[in-house]
Order: sequence, then structure tokens, then C-alpha cells
Amino acid sequence: MSFLPNLRRMTVIYRGYWGKIAISQIFALLMAACMIFIPMQVSSIINDASNIHAAVENAVLIALFAVLCGVFCMANVVYSVRIAEATGNYVRNGIYKKIQSYSFGNLDRFSTGELLTRLTSDIYQINIGVQLMLRAILMAPFAILVSVILVGLFSPELLWIMAIVIILSFVVFGYAMMKMQKQFKARQENYDIVNTTLQENMAGIRVVKAFVRQKFENDKFFQVNEKFKEANIAPLHTNSFTLPSALFIMGIATFLLILAGGPAVIAGTMKVGAILAFFQYVFIIVAQMWQLSLLIPQIVSAEASAGRLKEIWDTVPEIVDTEQKRGVDLTTVKGGVIFENVSFAYDKSGDTDTLKGINLEVAPGETVAFLGANGSGKSTLVSLIPRFYDPTSGRILIDGIDVKEIPQDNLRQIVGIALQKAFLFSGNIIDNISFGNPDIPYEGAVAAAKVADADGFVSNLPEKYDAPVSRKGQNFSGGQQQRLSMARAFTVKPHILILDDSTSAVDVETEGKILGALPQFLSGVTRLIISSRVSTALAADKIVVLDKGEITAVGTHKELISSSPLYKEIFASQLGGLRKEDVS
Ligand SMILES: Nc1ncnc2c1ncn2[C@@H]1O[C@H](COP(=O)(O)OP(=O)(O)O)[C@@H](O)[C@H]1O
Ligand SMILES: [Mg+2]
Repeated sequence: MSFLPNLRRMTVIYRGYWGKIAISQIFALLMAACMIFIPMQVSSIINDASNIHAAVENAVLIALFAVLCGVFCMANVVYSVRIAEATGNYVRNGIYKKIQSYSFGNLDRFSTGELLTRLTSDIYQINIGVQLMLRAILMAPFAILVSVILVGLFSPELLWIMAIVIILSFVVFGYAMMKMQKQFKARQENYDIVNTTLQENMAGIRVVKAFVRQKFENDKFFQVNEKFKEANIAPLHTNSFTLPSALFIMGIATFLLILAGGPAVIAGTMKVGAILAFFQYVFIIVAQMWQLSLLIPQIVSAEASAGRLKEIWDTVPEIVDTEQKRGVDLTTVKGGVIFENVSFAYDKSGDTDTLKGINLEVAPGETVAFLGANGSGKSTLVSLIPRFYDPTSGRILIDGIDVKEIPQDNLRQIVGIALQKAFLFSGNIIDNISFGNPDIPYEGAVAAAKVADADGFVSNLPEKYDAPVSRKGQNFSGGQQQRLSMARAFTVKPHILILDDSTSAVDVETEGKILGALPQFLSGVTRLIISSRVSTALAADKIVVLDKGEITAVGTHKELISSSPLYKEIFASQLGGLRKEDVS
């Protein structure tokens, strides 16, 4: 078993920090040396009390060493804090970068609450662990060892008292340490629960209000919070008994010392100075053992936090570029898409496939409409084209090239997508529109907004395209958000455009206008449009009907109305009031 494997994995920063770590440890040891030196001087002053000259010299030395001890201690703290902060910073950047590299499948496996706890509290634990470790891991054992050796050299007859002190400290502080270790763990787990509860509640607070569930949610949170409070208090309780214990051990040592040392001094076999020095060494040993008892649980806690971070750190992005990449020349892309026997499952270990044996051919420049009930797999199907996920089996080809062979950057230039859930970043409108193509000139972005029928409402805003977008775009209506998010997809000037139900919140008329303006703006572009409206399907070259992850029918409206019962059903449900002549 290797020593603190996770923490070491997190602190690869040490490779560049060995020098600083060494310096911090030198300061720690120098501080310990000064601390240990003082009792010896005290002892010689007292033993040699008649020599005033020597006493003054010694007193000056003691003062000097006390000052040095403080200076070295400060230097060690400064270095420890810096190294710990640098570690925290490094881990935070690394984890953030890692999360950015995740594909959709990886992201599905972590909740926002979990990621946040790890990026904040867990990194904080590591920070504290590293800091305390650099302050005491060498210094405390060194001070203990040297104190024991000095006592052994100068007053070997008192070593047995020292042995009792050490054994008692081991028992008391060892017990406290083991207890705190468990309590730290429980504290962290409870913190996780508080965070997850908070995060989920905040995300759904409007639903909570709409259903008047505040009291229920409050009670739930109070309970969780109460447990967290208890979990926080527990290690402090344990800790509060360590100081009195230390004093108690010192008391026992004093008692034994008087018992054994008193007669020895009276008999003249031991000097008073030796007794005083011994007492100070006992003090150093107990204090350092106490410090170690606090340090070790903190290190164990930091190691556990590092383990949780390592999960994120070591998760391999599911979608990566392959070795034999085939860059596609953007000027020659035609935009044909073929699904070859594609199956897909979100949960690879389960036995239910979300998509089953999909075979589909979309010619370059064709407009295809996807229809199907909620959960029939429409979003999933189109998300495989830009490789948000990879098929479990089968292939997807763009102009005859497997999408897995196309570098992802290249692929995302070819395929533009407006996601089902429009998302706007806080900032301004123009930056949101040109998000996927930051180099696009202002006029280009405005042209895209015009096609997406966003220009109208944007132009009415006082700041127009510089108008602010607040968090999650909440100062815009659902339909406006969707239109801006479609404009964002258009600016990429893709060769294959996917609109995943991105017109669900705009009215039928506007939807028709947007889809009608598209061919001119993006001429020759293959369009894959998911919509629950049959009106969209009517305008498409081809309609694909999905049911429970399978394609049940492909064809034009005319073909499907007679051949696909499901299509007929969807159609009838929307145009129920129409006469038969209208639909044929
Ligand atoms: N990220 C995901 N993780 C697990 N299951 C998912 C995920 N997204 C969708 N699903 C499941 O896959 C099925 C198809 O979903 P989806 O493709 O979104 O359907 P549609 O777009 O047709 O409404 C549904 O049963 C849904 O619950
Ligand atoms: Mg969907």
C-alpha cells in the first residue's frame, strides 16, 4: 500500500515545488531545534546560578533563540500556506479543465451539486491537509525524538517518566485521533447531503412555490442541516477533550517528577536545572503529540477528498478523436448523412436500448422532419451526429466518412445544432449569438438573427444587440431564448443543421417563417428538424416517424398518411377538426 496515493496524485504540483517544500521543512526543523535548545540553556542558568556573567549570556541566548524560533515558525507558515494555496489552485484549474473536456455521457454521471462540492469543499480539505502537513509532519516527530534523546543523555534516570508520558499520550491522543477521523468523514458526507439538497431545491424552487411545498421543503432542509450541525460539532467535542488531557498528562508527569526527582535533588544526585529542563521536554513532547493527533485526521480527511477528486480527474472523456483522423475540407462538404444499423443505450450495463437498429439515409440538402412521441428517441438520434454520444453499435457517416474519424472541432463546424433546451449565457445578445463562431462580423450575426426572427424583438430593445442577457437568459421569454439559440446555430454556417424542437415555444406562424427563410440563408444545407408540429413535417422532403427508439416509417406526407398508422394518429390528433380532403 502506498502512502496517501490520492493526495499524492492531486499534488503533482510538488514536482515543480520540491525546492519550496524543502525550504519549508528546513524552517520547520530549525524552529524545532530552537525550541529544543531553550530548555538546555534554562537548565544551565539554574545549575550555574552563582555565575552572573554566564547567566546573563545564557539569558541573552535564550531570548535570541526564542526570537529565532518565532521567525522560523513564521517562515514555515508562510511557505506552507503558499504551497497549499498553489496546490488548491492547481487542482481547481485541473478539475475545471477536466470537466470541460467531458462529453455528454460523462456529464450525465455527475450532478452539479457533486461537482460543486468537489470543486469547493474537497479542494479546501486538501488545502488544509497540505498546509498542516507541511507545518508538522517532520517537525513534530523530530522535536519528540530529539527531546527523548536529550533526556536520555542528561537525565537517564528520568526516562521511565518520559516513557509513561509517551504511552499515555499515545493512548489518549490515538483514541482522539481515531474518533476524529470517523467524525471528519461523517462531516464531509453530511456536507455533501446539504449541498445536494440545496442545489436540487434551488434548481426547482419555482416548482416548490407553484405547488406550495415550501413547508415540506423547509422541514426537509432543516433536518439535513441539523444533522450537518451535529456532524460539525462532533469532532470539535472530541478535540475539546484533547487539551485538558494534555494538561492532565503533564500533571501526572509533574507529580512523578517531584516524587522521583525531589529526593534525588535533596540527596545531591540530580541538579534542579535538570528537573526544570526535563519538565520542559515533557511539555514539548506532549504538545507535539497533541499536534500530531489533530494533524493526522486532517490528512486522512484530505486523502478522502483527494480520492473524490480523483474520480473526476481520472474519468476519461468518452468521446475522443481517433488516431486515424480524417479532416474534412469544409469547402467540399455536401452534407449527406447515413445511419447504418445504429443502436444506442445511455446505460451500457442495462439491457434496454434507447435506439434500436436505426437505418436512415439523408441526401445532401434534404430537409427531414422527425416525429414521434416524447421519449421516442428523437433527441438521442440527432445527438449522435455531432458525437455528443457514440453509438453502441453501428456507424454514422457524413459524406461517406464515419463521424468517429472526423476530428471533433471539424465535425462541430459541419454540424450545427440548436438544442432542445435553449441556454443563454449571461453577457449580451451579440456574444450569445456569435458564441459558436466568434469571428463572424456583426452584420453576419444580425443576418442570422433575422433568419431566426430574433431581429424584431432585439431591435426594439434600447441597447439592441448589446442588450444585457441575465443569468440563464431569464430576461427573455422562452420563445425569444429559442430564437436566439437558433441564431447561434445559424452563425456557425453549418452544412448539416439540426433543430431539436427548437421552435416549440414560438408560434406556428413564426416557425413557418423561420424554416421558410432558412434555405436562402444556408443554401444547400441538410436540415434535420425535430418538431411536434405536423405543419413542419408537411414542409419537409421526408418524414421520419420514431416509436420507442425504432424508425417505424419513412416517407413523404402522402406516403405516410396511407401507410403509417402512427403518423396518421399524430396527424389526426393535431388536425382533428379538418376534413379528409384537407389532408390528402
Ligand atoms: N442523458 C440521458 N440519460 C439517460 N437516459 C436518457 C437521457 N436522455 C434521454 N434519455 C432517455 O432516452 C429516451 C429517449 O429520449 P429522447 O431522445 O430525449 O426522446 P425525445 O427527444 O424523442 O423526446 C427516453 O426514455 C429518455 O428518458
Ligand atoms: Mg427531445
